[in-house]
Amino acid sequence: MKLHAEPGRVLGKRDPMIYGHFIEHFHRQIYGGVYDPGNPLSDEEGFRTDVLEAMRRIKVPVLRWPGGCFVSAYHWKEGVGKERIPHFDKAWRVEEPNTFGTDEYIRLCRKLGCEPYICTNAGTGTAEEMSDWVEYCNLPSEGRYAKWRIANGYTEPHRVKYWSVGNENYGSWEMGSKTPEQWGMLTCEAAKMMKRVDPSTELSAAALTDIDWNVNLLKNCGKYLDWMSIHEYWDPIHETNDYADYEASMAYTADIGHSVRKVRGLLEAMGLEKQIRIAFDEWNLRQWYHPMIMDVDQQGLTKEEYLYPRDENDDNTKYTMADAVFTACFLNMCNRNCDIVGMANFAPIVNTRGCICTHKDGIVLRSTYHVFDLYVNYLGDVVLDTWEEENPVKLLRAASGEKTEVELLDVLVTSFSDRAGYAVAAVNKDAGETQTLTLDLPGCGAVTLDYISGNSTESYNDVDHEEVAIEHEELGTYRQGMQITLRPHSVNIIRIGC
Ligand code: AHR
Repeated sequence: MKLHAEPGRVLGKRDPMIYGHFIEHFHRQIYGGVYDPGNPLSDEEGFRTDVLEAMRRIKVPVLRWPGGCFVSAYHWKEGVGKERIPHFDKAWRVEEPNTFGTDEYIRLCRKLGCEPYICTNAGTGTAEEMSDWVEYCNLPSEGRYAKWRIANGYTEPHRVKYWSVGNENYGSWEMGSKTPEQWGMLTCEAAKMMKRVDPSTELSAAALTDIDWNVNLLKNCGKYLDWMSIHEYWDPIHETNDYADYEASMAYTADIGHSVRKVRGLLEAMGLEKQIRIAFDEWNLRQWYHPMIMDVDQQGLTKEEYLYPRDENDDNTKYTMADAVFTACFLNMCNRNCDIVGMANFAPIVNTRGCICTHKDGIVLRSTYHVFDLYVNYLGDVVLDTWEEENPVKLLRAASGEKTEVELLDVLVTSFSDRAGYAVAAVNKDAGETQTLTLDLPGCGAVTLDYISGNSTESYNDVDHEEVAIEHEELGTYRQGMQITLRPHSVNIIRIGC
């Protein structure tokens, strides 16, 4: 494929928050994940220092919390103060100890240097409870909740800028699910009260690509919103754990930006595209595995049916180059749509399907972790328009069994707002063949290649087993028309000096 780009054809400057993350009170994400008091690897506050270091290395810009389904029956007041009352979490049918609450979460964000992003309970909660949470976090001292925060030892406000009204309240699986009409009204009242407490907050609300849901939301609440929250998981494994293979995973990339197209169209139709941006605040190639819990009529009777299977999310052999290649294609899509996609939160970051997996003696950096390392630390912040010649295509068998035409290369060109040079993200989805990329862009200086490919499409990392890591090559001096060989199933960052 021949790739053309010019420095003057700029699509935009990507928001760093498209490399954001999500963490939920589910399985081992919080307890035994990032928060592990008593573990020798944890600091004096109970946070895993090895996890913190890995999260800092990929410069986590924003961390969404506490859910996810969990939040839709979560009452934040049980998770602050000296007395923490355990509650039964109806979303996941486990006891929540409430020892990790708002203040612990804020301390975590401060240690990471990232923005907090709190998702509120619009399931069983009320507009008042949501706005009380904003009082607790953001008012200097007025009212009982700010005074409660001060009494808990936090004189300064937590200054939480990003808030979401609700999670997936459109779904029957969610505690307190809503009809489109109910949703429009509730979000309006909640947003009104939250903005009354702190007008500087930026609010999102659970949205879909469904027109009716979104029209009701935007008609009722559009004036208060800064973001629309979109969730997307492509491989539906939460009941079966039956993974789409590499070929089918690549087939999912065929129209990876369809949600952005639909939501952008609706925002433009309603004249809101300059006010509201898209937050993909949960996304991952694959769903999380948690059988016999999401379906109202199909609740597991025994823990063997609905609880213990969640441990299978910890099987590191199941996080391969399919996850890494797909993740890179999704991040390319977010960059290309940086005019309207301002945030994306990989779901989740620690354990379950996260890019970091903890065990009692350390962590495993899964294949997707290295994609974030490449994109955050090697790519530029200015996204250039490109045009391509002869992108090779293949007919791939989708999970449905149908054949889908898929372009084998997914390429993004970036430059830097603070220096000369380019960084090209080039993904080769082909399972077995190398592909050649011919560069037609004005450049000069040294050319380097940093990439991950593994030994096969099934390569993975585990304790004492590493197949996927960033490798580096020096490719000499840049010349127009330079050809770069891209390994099969690889994610590549090509940097051109000037
Ligand atoms: O599988 C995890 C769940 O997926 C999250 O809690 C929810 O937001 C989404 O449906």
